[in-house]
Amino acid sequence: MAVALRSLLRPAWSLAPACLLLRAPARLSSAGTQFQYLVVEKKGVKQNVGVIQLNRPKALNALCDGLMNEMNQALDFFEKDPDVGAIVITGSEKAFAAGADIKEMQNRTFQECYGGSFLAHWNRVSLVRKPVIAAVNGYALGGGCELAMMCDIIYAGDKAQFGQPEILLGTIPGAGGSQRLTRAVGKSLAMEMVLTGDRISAQEAKEAGLVSKIYPTEKLLEEAISCGEKIAGNSKLVTAMAKEAVNAAFEMTLTEGNKMEKRLFYATFATDDRKEGMSAFVEKRKANFTDH
Ligand code: HXC
Repeated sequence: MAVALRSLLRPAWSLAPACLLLRAPARLSSAGTQFQYLVVEKKGVKQNVGVIQLNRPKALNALCDGLMNEMNQALDFFEKDPDVGAIVITGSEKAFAAGADIKEMQNRTFQECYGGSFLAHWNRVSLVRKPVIAAVNGYALGGGCELAMMCDIIYAGDKAQFGQPEILLGTIPGAGGSQRLTRAVGKSLAMEMVLTGDRISAQEAKEAGLVSKIYPTEKLLEEAISCGEKIAGNSKLVTAMAKEAVNAAFEMTLTEGNKMEKRLFYATFATDDRKEGMSAFVEKRKANFTDH
């Protein structure tokens, strides 16, 4: 595995020797950023999918402040990289993320939370313009489930478990869980999960519309990257418009959303990629998008 990873990392990515990237506790990206809690790589045949793997195994990828700061740096980095057309966020086989770091939160006061805007930097994932796919194996609990729901697409491994167990800790979801879960699965199941802390399986999550596909644990990441490659193969410019249009459905009335969609649709007619896409269809060839 180390060899495979090394060959994937070397060509486009590392300034440091691959062995340093793989073994040192802090990892270097090509931007020179140090990652202690993440493994950040470009994957796919064309190296056009950015993969962010949470790597805090001893705490089941609990989302401590340092990890979330690194997540934001990695997202900024991929957002700026013109070659990257999609981003995958994943964890380990046992845990996508077991929630916000309870030990870090344990002694916080209301004054510190409110005064310091605790968790204000957590929503970066939901602001990324490029499509983000969550590949969830194992536990996605509390903030872990919320992180997955900030992504655009959720793929689950067959043993994944989703839950919002904050109520069992005497608190409630604080990073969008009560809102995004309710929009995704409806009131009854969201209420049940938030009020009891009970988890749902990957299968239940798929039936409820929280995840779009389920794969065997060991196949999950590969499938998520493959979905990322498919997305990255389209026009990045028009993909951003499509993402904006779908997201409008969560923020606007139907009339406003339809209006916004129409404007974005018209805007595609100002792009080279729309011309290329339709010409390629008529000429019976594969479109060659240039992101213009
Ligand atoms: C800090 C955590 C953690 C967490 C697990 N660990 N979850 N540390 N914060 N959220 C640590 C444990 O303390 C332990 O370390 C190690 O990870 C392994 O966990 P175990 O409990 O021994 O593993 P296991 O028996 O397999 O049980 C797995 C588990 C359980 C069911 C996922 O760990 C669990 O219930 N975790 C908490 C889940 C949760 O309540 N999440 C919501 C958090 S609140 P040590 O060193 O002690 O052995 C939240 C609020 C969000 O997310 C609000 C906005 C972001």
